[in-house]
Amino acid sequence: MSASVPSLRSWLAAAAVPALLVALAVAPDAVAAQEGHASTDVTFTRDVAPILQENCQVCHQPGAIGPMSLMDYENVRRYARRIARMVEARDMPPYQYDLDVGIQDLREDWRLSEEDIQTIVAWASSGAPEGDPADMPPPVEWPDPAEFRLAERFGEPDIIVRSEPYDVPETGQDRWWRPTVPTGVVEDRCIMAIETKPSVEGRAVAHHANSSFSVDGERAGRLSEYALGKVGEIVPEGACRKIPANADVNFDIHYWPNGVQVDDDQVEVGIWLHPEEYEGTYDQTLTLYFLQGGRGYDIPPHGTLMTQGVHQWDTPVRIDSWQPHGHTRLVAMSIEILRKDGQREMVSMVSNWSALWHHSHIYGEDVAPLLDVGDKVIMTAWYDNTENNRYNPDPDQWVGIGDRTADEMSHAWIAVTHMDEEGIEKVRAERAARLISEQQDDESGPGGSN
Ligand code: HEC
Repeated sequence: MSASVPSLRSWLAAAAVPALLVALAVAPDAVAAQEGHASTDVTFTRDVAPILQENCQVCHQPGAIGPMSLMDYENVRRYARRIARMVEARDMPPYQYDLDVGIQDLREDWRLSEEDIQTIVAWASSGAPEGDPADMPPPVEWPDPAEFRLAERFGEPDIIVRSEPYDVPETGQDRWWRPTVPTGVVEDRCIMAIETKPSVEGRAVAHHANSSFSVDGERAGRLSEYALGKVGEIVPEGACRKIPANADVNFDIHYWPNGVQVDDDQVEVGIWLHPEEYEGTYDQTLTLYFLQGGRGYDIPPHGTLMTQGVHQWDTPVRIDSWQPHGHTRLVAMSIEILRKDGQREMVSMVSNWSALWHHSHIYGEDVAPLLDVGDKVIMTAWYDNTENNRYNPDPDQWVGIGDRTADEMSHAWIAVTHMDEEGIEKVRAERAARLISEQQDDESGPGGSN
């Protein structure tokens, strides 16, 4: 599975790009500039630095989680080959989501364009030249890591929940920190926005930080998730993401010792609330949906497994985001819709899963799936416990369901807005109207964001 799927994907990705571009392996503006010369003219300052600024430096700068800085030519040149290999395999930037199936219009999509990948590859394979220093773009001004970024828009958060302090050593194994902290909220309220922020020093070691609600120890929905580079999340207008009365926040923080010792680290979740009297028209929930009925299973040594889960709702719904979850034997997960008339639609597929990274794939406004009552989602997960799975720590083990990294899991977090007939028809009508006005503006028709 893990061996065959990526090669099919890279074949398809290559086939999708005009042959000329692949042959020249440079971006279109560079083609014009060099008037048909070979790829040796791709330079760091003009072609590569802007791509790194936009897609890499947020993590690859001093004090951030990336293992090296990609801020200046000297550093980048030393890693040129590895960078080319990683971007070509789509291992970096870390965002696992297939290019060739399902919905492609995503918000906060970190994937590089095929042109950018080919620019980097051509640059690395032509000796990684610096080029004219005058072409170097001005440095990016990064936001102050001590501030909540949404504070500019909404002011200081109404609630700040802090994880209990944790000491992260300079070196060692990955570690998971799962404290439970009360919110202090005594009534149900609607959330307007959420942002998770590591401490300034913790930015180098907090690989990701997820949080969920519980009430009296019972799961009560997902709150937020964090990986470096993400701004917070704003709940769609008119919807209510509830923070239940007396909720606790359960943190799930992945620390990654990274050469600096960080004592008493705390991750903060800032929550902005709607006024007490606000009632959204529709509830939005972020809930865990199982792919194996919540039951156990065992994957044999050197074996594989597939699990599935089918879900439906008792009102019409809009699916706002999807986040697969598994550990090191998970290699791929998909979500499809089975319409009540029998039609099947692929929504999303991740076939190069990495348990190091957690992404909520947020669907673009005009493509978020709409389901009528009777439509179902089918989710499928594929596990590979053989040595073909590059992340497999030990193919000789039996692997069962459990919380430890060495165990497996089968679920996805899905944000669903629970609507009614009238609401869903209104969304459909608004989309149709936007599509028509877009076609009038632009004869080339609608295009995805990437
Ligand atoms: C969200 C943070 C993040 C972003 C964005 C990101 N990286 Fe990384 N990168 C990391 C982390 C963390 C590691 C080490 C762990 C791993 O490999 O997953 C890493 C590892 C790497 C490595 C391997 C280093 C080694 O020692 O083997 C390369 C090369 C790399 N990144 C290049 C890039 C490039 C090029 C981009 C942009 C196109 C990029 N990264 C974007 C966080 C990031």
